[in-house]
Amino acid sequence: MSVSQTKYKVPESFAKNALVDETSYNDMYRQSIEDNEAFWAEHGKRVSWSKPYSRVKNTSWDKDDLHVKWYEDGELNVAYNCIDRHLKDKANEVAIIWEGDDPKDCRHITYAELHAQVCRFANVLKSLDVKKGDRVTLYLPMIPEAAFAMLACARIGAVHSIVFAGFSPEALAGRINDCDSRLVITADEGLRGGKTIPLKSSVDQALKHASDVKNVLVVRHTSNDVEMVPNRDVWLDQAQEHVALECEVEPMNAEDPLFILYTSGSTGKPKGVLHTTGGYLVWASMTHEYVFDYKQGDIYWCSADVGWVTGHSYIVYGPLANAATTLMFEGVPTYPDASRFWQVIDKHNVNIFYTAPTAIRALMGQGEAFVKQTSRKSLRLLGSVGEPINPEAWEWYHRVVGERRCPIVDTWWQTETGGIMITPLAGATDLKPGSATLPFFGIKPEIVDAEGKVLEGPAEGNLVIAESWPGQMRTVYGDHQRFIDTYFSTYKGKYFTGDGCRRDEDGYYWITGRVDDVINVSGHRMGTAEVESALVAHAEVSEAAVVGYPHDIKGQGIYAYVSLNASVDPSSELATELIKWVRTEIGPIAAPDKIQFAPGLPKTRSGKIMRRILRKIAEDDFSNLGDTSTLADPAVVDNLIANRQNKK
Ligand code: WTA
Repeated sequence: MSVSQTKYKVPESFAKNALVDETSYNDMYRQSIEDNEAFWAEHGKRVSWSKPYSRVKNTSWDKDDLHVKWYEDGELNVAYNCIDRHLKDKANEVAIIWEGDDPKDCRHITYAELHAQVCRFANVLKSLDVKKGDRVTLYLPMIPEAAFAMLACARIGAVHSIVFAGFSPEALAGRINDCDSRLVITADEGLRGGKTIPLKSSVDQALKHASDVKNVLVVRHTSNDVEMVPNRDVWLDQAQEHVALECEVEPMNAEDPLFILYTSGSTGKPKGVLHTTGGYLVWASMTHEYVFDYKQGDIYWCSADVGWVTGHSYIVYGPLANAATTLMFEGVPTYPDASRFWQVIDKHNVNIFYTAPTAIRALMGQGEAFVKQTSRKSLRLLGSVGEPINPEAWEWYHRVVGERRCPIVDTWWQTETGGIMITPLAGATDLKPGSATLPFFGIKPEIVDAEGKVLEGPAEGNLVIAESWPGQMRTVYGDHQRFIDTYFSTYKGKYFTGDGCRRDEDGYYWITGRVDDVINVSGHRMGTAEVESALVAHAEVSEAAVVGYPHDIKGQGIYAYVSLNASVDPSSELATELIKWVRTEIGPIAAPDKIQFAPGLPKTRSGKIMRRILRKIAEDDFSNLGDTSTLADPAVVDNLIANRQNKK
């Protein structure tokens, strides 16, 4: 990524009214590091505890004695914090603005209505025998019922696992089985860009491979006909008619699980990242308030999907814990046309807008006119998340969308971190396009070299975090050893992020992308190993190696090298079929952009595929392939170069 030299000063008008300015950031940051426990003792109070904590922090990242506990003797309930505690003053304020795929569809849900909806939903869950600690899988479109379902689980102590509705039935089945969910919540259909998505029928297919599921709870959304299996499938609207209107909140220990969210790693199947109750809520709500400079009355919109962690922390839990008004959008940025985001902002007077670089790049490609035909005068602050934002896209977002008036917070974090970790605070931090800038309170980032030596000053290497924070994941569901191996074994006593990073002379952090075999496609994390195992599951494929390559809009595209069985000839039809195959095995986001048939892959004599070489060839840069003499068969490289699919 090119490095921008431009620096944007904090606008004075912004600093004046901001929650934190440069001095208070420095003071608070220093305190958060020097007196970490006292800092979190104080800020833990931002949530309401039914039993206050006396012990704040009990953490060790020693891999032989790994434990992470925050506020461990406290009790609270997340739904109480996101709803009930606001009812006294804010019952009639809007909690959720829902904007449908069709611009004619919209709903305003007050805190009082949210309370009523969540209570009834929770009682339906109870009527289906869901108990504290049970896992419930959600496969839902971006409709208010997704938030109701999450909060209903939290209310009764059930653990939700949301599966992004773009995943295939196969991927869904794997995630249902991994956490042993007995209940799946879905909708008849989803709607995106005017097209229906057959969610219920995908669940039906998934359940052929997930036989322990007892019930499917179905939200009526498009009202088109779907098949209902007797004694298994239940309509939410019908079930709600028979339940009580009130539902007590279940007191939860701070370390009781709140949710599982599957995410891709560099090896094996997706990991069930587990977050718990107390620390996560403190982290989500605190970061939401400070990073977005959220003040009561602001209309806040995060355009993510609830199927990703950004939707969990910054559509639902963070904003609602802060009694915010959060906008939830069902559709896509280009429907009915490429002006939709900006129209929604005008329609609902959005003040704070948080989206992904891939969306910005796609809209940038459509031209400025789509933006300029709207007013956007309500906007005060912009945010970015999910992948490095290239300075060109940053500048466009700043100049065209925000009319140079709105600071941009480029927020770096991960599913594992629960919330934002490195970010500007708009009233405190001068901005540099492409840099996530400085750590949030309590976060101690370090840059290490391959041997684990901590580098000081301006440096480039791997990003690790040196100190626990309340929102960090607690385990990989059902596989604690994998948690230890993945994050705490590479660098002793430190959390390894999997990201490369540079720190400049001002101490600003620049994330350079993943250093492991994870690729970031349109801000979605994909393990190359997952795509490879989908490919080799095809009858004609003997071997596959998948790498990322730079893609103008997606950030990274998926490039697959495929070796076929001896009797099979490569053809463009087969390439198309393989792309379709991966779509059905995992989902459209995993579909390869390029397939190169390769009679041989570059391997070391011990059989290890040299991905570095494959990455270079996919980038059409083979000037510097490094030493290929250690390959078992150096000649394969010439063949790969001759048949490369990304010739410039
Ligand atoms: C990448 C999404 C650069 C990074 C919240 C990280 C970013 C992975 C940024 C996590 C950013 C996220 N700048 N890179 N502002 N935000 N990433 O788990 O590689 O879906 O490790 O969480 O996205 O993706 P995940």
